[in-house]
Amino acid sequence: MSKVVVFDHPLIQHKLSIMRSKETGSKDFRQLLTEISMLMGYEITRDFPLEPYEIETPICKMTAKRISGKKLAIVPILRAGMGMVDGMLSLMPVAKVGHIGLYRNEETHEPVVYFCKLPFDIQQRTVIVTDPMLATGGSCCDALEMLKERGCDNIRLMCLVAAPEGIARVQREHPDVDIFVAAIDERLNDDAYIVPGLGDAGDRIFGTK
Ligand code: PRP
Ligand code: URA
Repeated sequence: MSKVVVFDHPLIQHKLSIMRSKETGSKDFRQLLTEISMLMGYEITRDFPLEPYEIETPICKMTAKRISGKKLAIVPILRAGMGMVDGMLSLMPVAKVGHIGLYRNEETHEPVVYFCKLPFDIQQRTVIVTDPMLATGGSCCDALEMLKERGCDNIRLMCLVAAPEGIARVQREHPDVDIFVAAIDERLNDDAYIVPGLGDAGDRIFGTK
């Protein structure tokens, strides 16, 4: 069974509350999402392995540390997942970025794939999938399946707000994928929106409604 980590850091919770308010406009929403992604990225990479290597400071030689192991790829689920990329890239500027395009059919709530472009060596990388909203879990599960079909075996999922239903589905279908979130909300409503949630993340990021 995968682990679920809820980031209860006060800065993350404070910023998330502002994002949830319907009074918050796209500019601030985007900025806050970037800031939270940076804070979450700091924690999500906490267990990355280090290796020693020799350097020379202006004073003397020393054994310093650098991140070792697999290289990183960030894979946002379009559109809303894009809002979490800049924060991650500001911490890990050499990470490669792949894109998976999925939208939810408004009636069935089933995800529909419309785009997939990934780094050529994606299967050799640690992959962090980003999507602010984990509702039914359909979109994330399909994205994880697409990555696994391409050989990825080291994947983490980073979301902002999750419904219990979405977490349960990812854990059931992808027990090897650890899930990192800022909040687990109460439930889904009849339109499969997260309650209380923050509304439609893509529309709020891009101002499309
Ligand atoms: C949203 C969100 C997730 C998905 C979550 O995307 O960003 O990808 O819904 O719902 P699920 O867990 O029930 O699949 P949406 O389909 O609205 O597309 P968008 O990001 O382009 O707005
Ligand atoms: N997608 C969103 O953007 N918000 C939700 O609450 C559910 C799915």
